[in-house]
Amino acid sequence: MNNTNKADVLLGLQWGDEGKGKIVDVFTPHYNIVARFQGGPNAGHTLVFENQKYVLHTIPSGIFHSGCVNVVGNGVVLDPFIISKELDQLCFPVSRIKESLVFCEKAHLILPSHRLLDAAYEMKKGDARIGSTLKGIGPAYTDKTARSGLRLCDAVSDGFSHLYKNLKEQHMQLISTLGVDVDDVMLDGLCFSDYEAHWFDALERLKELPRINSELFINEALNRGDRVLAEGAQGALLDINFGSYPFVTSSSTTVSGACAGLGIAPSRIGEVFGVFKSYCTRVGSGPFPTEIHDENATRLRDLGQEYGSTTGRPRRCGWLDLPALKYAVMINGVTRLLMTKADVLNTTGIIRVCVAYDTGDNQRHSLPNVCGTSEQKPVYRDMKGWQCSLEHIDRFEALPEELLRYVAMIEDFVDVPVDVISTGPDRKEILIRKGAQLPWSE
Ligand code: IMP
Repeated sequence: MNNTNKADVLLGLQWGDEGKGKIVDVFTPHYNIVARFQGGPNAGHTLVFENQKYVLHTIPSGIFHSGCVNVVGNGVVLDPFIISKELDQLCFPVSRIKESLVFCEKAHLILPSHRLLDAAYEMKKGDARIGSTLKGIGPAYTDKTARSGLRLCDAVSDGFSHLYKNLKEQHMQLISTLGVDVDDVMLDGLCFSDYEAHWFDALERLKELPRINSELFINEALNRGDRVLAEGAQGALLDINFGSYPFVTSSSTTVSGACAGLGIAPSRIGEVFGVFKSYCTRVGSGPFPTEIHDENATRLRDLGQEYGSTTGRPRRCGWLDLPALKYAVMINGVTRLLMTKADVLNTTGIIRVCVAYDTGDNQRHSLPNVCGTSEQKPVYRDMKGWQCSLEHIDRFEALPEELLRYVAMIEDFVDVPVDVISTGPDRKEILIRKGAQLPWSE
């Protein structure tokens, strides 16, 4: 038994949409297993190669490399309808899907009525709404915690229709108490009963795919010496415990989520890859200290294609927030940083970076007052932009001096090396620093 073999974790350090999916896709050839540990179809991981764009919501981002097993862990919530659509998008033969995709039978199901509830709660909140993706994430995790949820293993049991009917009935009562008419809510363009019928068809398809127990599957693989990469969704600042509550998602997006969402002991975590964008975005409501509203925001949104890959909503854009990044590095124990979308800043003359918050009396260099609602006024440092294309640069060390200075400033602030820079959406557009101590480099 090889007890020293560890799983690496890759996760987002901002408000999601950091470009994690692309990095997982690029790293997958070095791993035997890629395993999603939390979230569900609220995620949208975009992969681009051979002039094709794919968006994955539940299926791990290692799926395009044959030879890698993709695990959907116990910490993930599953909507069979959305998984079925993802499978259609892949266009893989069934045999290829069955050998490369497995689901933990402990993973909870998102029922159609969870999605109705999500919509009803948001409607009731009015201006205080979270800006949920409305995929039923919050209600599904609520039922999990309340010990009334349904798991994938329940779906294959004889009593499933009874369990389903009971839980749906509870949801419907709640929805009616909230004063919401089911007929007013459309789910992916379908009325409830049509959606439900498709959901049940999709559940039959999901039941045909291999089921595992992720804790046994992953630990046995590690004992054999297999390489495992745990893939996070959303980002640290949307974490249920450490994000800007209540404007968060309902799962642990941080490294502890990988332990709980796959059954890996903390002592078996190896590298923690923290992915961040060279600027910041946020979709949905909630505090965003470095948000900008001028032409810089429009440029970032257009060049970075900052529109939600799950909902299509325009993302709020802003400058890089170093105190927030440092906080995310701390709670995750990040060992290596990976910066994405450097190319989106190519045409920005002066790049602003938040290095502290002005509290009135003094400046704070750490994330203050995460529990409060008070405005955080950023203190900026202005950096000269590189103002050139990165397209033909084939080595990290050959990046423009201004960009290398930008990276050095980040490393200095958070005290973790930036080993990888992504310079475009395609899997080929990535630069790894010479001498970077990645787990597979000797
Ligand atoms: P929910 O998880 O769909 O309930 O959404 C809660 C909050 O997290 C909302 O502000 C969403 O916009 C945000 N959110 C959820 N998933 C993602 C994601 O994958 N990327 C970015 N934001 C997300």
